[in-house]
Amino acid sequence: MEKGYWEKIAPSYETEIFDVLKNDTSGKIVKAILSFAGPKKSVIDIGCAVGKWMPVLAPVFGKVHAIDISNNNLKIAAKKYPQYTNITYERVDMSASRLLPHTRIATKNNLVPVNRSKIKNYDSAICINAILTSSLKKRNLFFKHMASFIKKGGDLVLVVPSLESKLFSHIIANKFNVDNAKKDKAPNGKRAISQIRFIKDGVTDIDDVPTKHFLKEELDLLLSLAGFTVEKIEKINYKWSTEFHKPPNWLKNPEPWDWMVKATKK
Ligand SMILES: C[S@@+](CC[C@H](N)C(=O)[O-])C[C@H]1O[C@@H](n2cnc3c(N)ncnc32)[C@H](O)[C@@H]1O
Repeated sequence: MEKGYWEKIAPSYETEIFDVLKNDTSGKIVKAILSFAGPKKSVIDIGCAVGKWMPVLAPVFGKVHAIDISNNNLKIAAKKYPQYTNITYERVDMSASRLLPHTRIATKNNLVPVNRSKIKNYDSAICINAILTSSLKKRNLFFKHMASFIKKGGDLVLVVPSLESKLFSHIIANKFNVDNAKKDKAPNGKRAISQIRFIKDGVTDIDDVPTKHFLKEELDLLLSLAGFTVEKIEKINYKWSTEFHKPPNWLKNPEPWDWMVKATKK
């Protein structure tokens, strides 16, 4: 899932891309965000896409900075929420080797050139299902830049796909032939080899796109290496209907999940 993919999908984002905010019926993510929100606090939404989290963030933070690799997504977000005057938008590639020293930040009416060294770090950050790239190098850079945006002692809410959940769903599908899983053709040739290589690194397809999924222990380690203290890692559960077209009636708990991490910057 690289820049071209996100730019192309932007116009149909609403129907194509899983809506974490809507599907987290437990409200755990919103609750985690509200635990550190405040009118004097700033927050950066990393990988904001079309701005689904703006109605959660803008009313409870003093300043919201929304960043994404996709210009198209940012344009849609800015158009959607003209009522929030405390949001700024910026195109940033979180997997770039080096963040550009000169950038442009969009306010409600202007596009202002800014020297990055003049931008203060944020009190807090959210990053909801944005670290998805199959490239290890790009993920490493993403974690590094994410840490660099947050003040010492600042808060982070990170949500990522769970590898445990993905494997669990596959096991259930195969054992009980959910959605005719037994009829799925096994890949062969080059595709089979690349799938084996990928799965060993936690990369498995979502809608035919190789997507990084994380283990709980892996996340704990990655975040502490990136300069965070992990407070908690929790499941965000979703209905089985988000995974299967026809989930069996008896299939209840555990439901599929993403991992949510609450952490603070060391
Ligand atoms: C699945 S969407 C999640 C959007 C949003 N956080 C939400 O919960 O609705 C992932 C977003 O991450 C962005 N993204 C992916 N790689 C990125 C990168 N290297 N730098 C900045 N944004 C990136 C994509 O453009 C996309 O908008």
